Amino acid sequence: MKYENMPPYAPVLMESTRAIGYNLEAAVADIVDNSIAAMASEVNIFFSPYDAVPYVTFLDDGVGMNETEINNAMRYGSKSSLDERDRTDLGRFGLGLKTASLSQCRSLTVISKQNTRVEGRKWDLDSVYTSGEWSLIVLDESDIKSIPQYKQLESFSHGTLIIWEKLDRMLEGAASPEKLMNKKIDDVREHLALVFHRYISGESGIQKLKISINNFEIKAKDPFLIGRSTVFQHDEKLSIEGEQVLVSAYMLPHISKMTRAEKEALGGSEGLTKNQGFYVYRNKRLLVWGTWFRMHRKDELSKLARIRVDIPNSLDHLWTLDIRKSTAVPPDVIKRNLERIVERISNGSKRAWTFRGKREISDQGCHLWNKEQAREGVQYVLNRDHVFLKMLSESLDSDQKHILFSYLKLVEGNLPLNQLYVDLNNEERVNVRKEKDAEAEAMDFAKIILENIKDSSSRKEQIQLMLQTDPFCNYKSIVEMLTMEYEL
Ligand SMILES: Nc1ncnc2c1ncn2[C@@H]1O[C@H](COP(=O)(O)OP(=O)(O)OP(=O)(O)O)[C@@H](O)[C@H]1O
Ligand SMILES: [Mg+2]
Repeated sequence: MKYENMPPYAPVLMESTRAIGYNLEAAVADIVDNSIAAMASEVNIFFSPYDAVPYVTFLDDGVGMNETEINNAMRYGSKSSLDERDRTDLGRFGLGLKTASLSQCRSLTVISKQNTRVEGRKWDLDSVYTSGEWSLIVLDESDIKSIPQYKQLESFSHGTLIIWEKLDRMLEGAASPEKLMNKKIDDVREHLALVFHRYISGESGIQKLKISINNFEIKAKDPFLIGRSTVFQHDEKLSIEGEQVLVSAYMLPHISKMTRAEKEALGGSEGLTKNQGFYVYRNKRLLVWGTWFRMHRKDELSKLARIRVDIPNSLDHLWTLDIRKSTAVPPDVIKRNLERIVERISNGSKRAWTFRGKREISDQGCHLWNKEQAREGVQYVLNRDHVFLKMLSESLDSDQKHILFSYLKLVEGNLPLNQLYVDLNNEERVNVRKEKDAEAEAMDFAKIILENIKDSSSRKEQIQLMLQTDPFCNYKSIVEMLTMEYEL
């Protein structure tokens, strides 16, 4: 047996791989991935539509490359996907720098500084076509000095500057490059804010990253609204081939509890429904989101559910990752575990949607409403043990009691549920009261109750009960007042 050496014909391979399917946002993210892997703390992206020749630059303060490294970096397949990668590396295929860049432009220049030395290389599809070879252009000092933004790289002790020119694909069909670029900048900003939100916000354990576009710093966009009233549901570590996959399930706050800015950031009701599901992060970088991997239907009732899945790059071989890092399919072994978690959280999401109780209402004696499970379905009934109701009914004779409880039954049997359902789906704010008024009202009630109990031991008993009772237990001022009364 003998072998023929069949290297690819450069112009054909380079042109063909332009069609891998990157959009601008994914292409930019791939460049930022490389800066993160190079331990950069800052990436400045600059879109320049104004000059006669529009261009885009990326400048980072990462470790930079020496001569051998930059030559290797420009090679198609600079590192095999079978090689083991550093734990913080976001790369996998040894292609991103070239394929992402040249999916948007015909000319890619890379200038890198390390140990006071600066190296520059360039792929120009037109000159590759003319030469018919893998003719990588090596820039000399004067070429490098004429590069836009070079001065900034020069001021760093190490870093890398990438320049996209001849933006044919990026500006395809644009009557005005300026208008199109400005629109695209918005999409890129949104994308980076989400995909790298954990790097931008400087989560512990990773190097914090500042990304700016045309000198405007990008703010992190956290899809879980952590730190707001998002409810953390569940945390689980799955052990796969000795590596850990961390799954954390969250429930967003009910939409009527979100601020206008939050609602807008999450894309309103439509955005919530569309973006429910898994958020898969590889080394803390968001890969895929807003999908249930066909384990569950995207319905109205689970729209608040979002599940974070953290995978290390050492499990790449299991996840069927594509070159753009825009899709990743979970392996069966993980899918089975996720299915179980989906089931649990989607039930929880239904609960938040249909009933905004502060706690699980059925197992608490002190809530206003109880949810009862009957064979035909569920029923909401006023809690007969609630302190108010007890106090009131004890003060009534039996005829009055009869009228009171008949009335309560009437109320319970005639809840305007259908209308409520419609209102909530239309995102009406239902039964809105200013929190301040609700608190004052609850304080008044609390005082009325206490005034009515003279005997000190039953008073203490009552206070203890009220401290665990809706609505009193929800307000700090009332809890403080009750605690003081108790100690008197
Ligand atoms: N900004 C940068 N700073 C330092 N080194 C870089 C930078 N960008 C690229 N490199 C080097 O160039 C190599 C090739 O990058 P490229 O994006 O093509 O492949 P990769 O990141 O290894 O894998 P992937 O195809 O998954 O992105 C990187 O592995 C890295 O060594
Ligand atoms: Mg890369």
